[in-house]
Amino acid sequence: MPQYQAVKGTRDIFPDEAARWKFVEGMVHVLASLYGFSEIRTPVFEYTELFQRGIGSTTDIVGKEMFSFLPDPKGRSLTLRPEMTAGVMRAALQNNLLSSAPVHKLYYIGELFRKERPQAGRQRQFSQFGAELLGVSSPAAVAEVITLMMQVFESLDLHGLKLRINSLGDTDDRIRYREALQGYFSPFRDILDDSSKERLEKNPLRILDSKNPALQELIAGAPRLYDYLNDASLQDFEKVLFYLRERGIAYEIDYRLVRGLDYYCNTAFEVTSSELGAQDAIGGGGRYDGLARELGSSADVPAVGFAVGMERLLMTMEKQGLFAALDSRAPLVYVVVQQQDLFDHGMQIAWQLRHAGIKTEIDLAARSMKAQMREANKINASFALFIGSMEQTTGFYSLKNLITSEQTLLSLEAVLELLQESAAKEPLKL
Ligand code: HAM
Repeated sequence: MPQYQAVKGTRDIFPDEAARWKFVEGMVHVLASLYGFSEIRTPVFEYTELFQRGIGSTTDIVGKEMFSFLPDPKGRSLTLRPEMTAGVMRAALQNNLLSSAPVHKLYYIGELFRKERPQAGRQRQFSQFGAELLGVSSPAAVAEVITLMMQVFESLDLHGLKLRINSLGDTDDRIRYREALQGYFSPFRDILDDSSKERLEKNPLRILDSKNPALQELIAGAPRLYDYLNDASLQDFEKVLFYLRERGIAYEIDYRLVRGLDYYCNTAFEVTSSELGAQDAIGGGGRYDGLARELGSSADVPAVGFAVGMERLLMTMEKQGLFAALDSRAPLVYVVVQQQDLFDHGMQIAWQLRHAGIKTEIDLAARSMKAQMREANKINASFALFIGSMEQTTGFYSLKNLITSEQTLLSLEAVLELLQESAAKEPLKL
């Protein structure tokens, strides 16, 4: 066993898998821009207080899962970002983005860090893509964000995903609900675990998030937030659902959906995949009108967004066989050198081909011609271009179509022309 292993909960992504990532990322870039979202990249670490204030100190993420460190004994504690939303809002407030335009539509693809117990679909370093719409959180804005997320899934041909949605109401609704929950859970204080006892005082809504099996029955009997919504909240939620129905987006109202971050209000949603096992949430999001003020803004910044876990998305795509076409993509032409004294000539030809935009491979390990042909087949090259002494003297090259086995003798110009034509039919994909 080698001396050094990757840290538990992290993993390496090798070229075949990286191709899949680039394919999905490409789709995210295209669709986000179709909806008018522009990319933002924020730092991987922030001051710890940003997440404590933003996500909420009674959440599992802040309470148990942050990778925090002190840069020096007198410094302020820093934390590797466990999610993107707080950092995006911090960046918008710090740079006064909303004074230049009332609405900002931002998206991202980035690495996150949570100290969770690693298991299938749950890592300590993972990736998300997501979008944040800042400045407006009307039902139309909420629907826009959900529609973008669902269109990404659809464009990737994913099927069988379930969108669950709920309303968490406005601040007043939640104050009334909080009292109702305290009234419900207080008589059972003795059977609550320590963290739920603490949450009972500070943030009883978080008890609903508990994974403790011993509490599930009690939680199931708790009052529903939905029953505490005022008319405006109900109407707002209804309008979001109306937009989704208009667009043929199937959803299920889940009255128990609260999400694991404190900043949400009104509509919150989650998408699950039955393909994923225990960690079945592929993405989630919602409205977070209170976050800006929580981070010290003197003005309200209504906002809504979502994030999708890349690893879980890729796992689902793999299970649904959606990478078959991608995996068979290959270099177009393999330059086969018949004798090693022609290697430099072969390199020169390979350079000319690449310079003309043709994807080209050549063996750099001085292997036999047989081994080069084996390699060309292994990597699914479409053509082999032979470099022999006859080719070098006449300037005519044997080009073999490795799919039909047809072989022709062509001038280098004709080879370039034919390969360019063929490349145009199957453009270079990264
Ligand atoms: P979240 O539900 O905590 O939301 O994370 C979103 C997605 O990230 C999850 O559905 C899951 O697919 C993935 N994910 C979370 N933790 C892990 C992990 N340890 N390993 C692998 N994948 C994971 C948020 O992060 C919010 N910031 C979403 C949002 C954006 N709300 C508004 N705007």
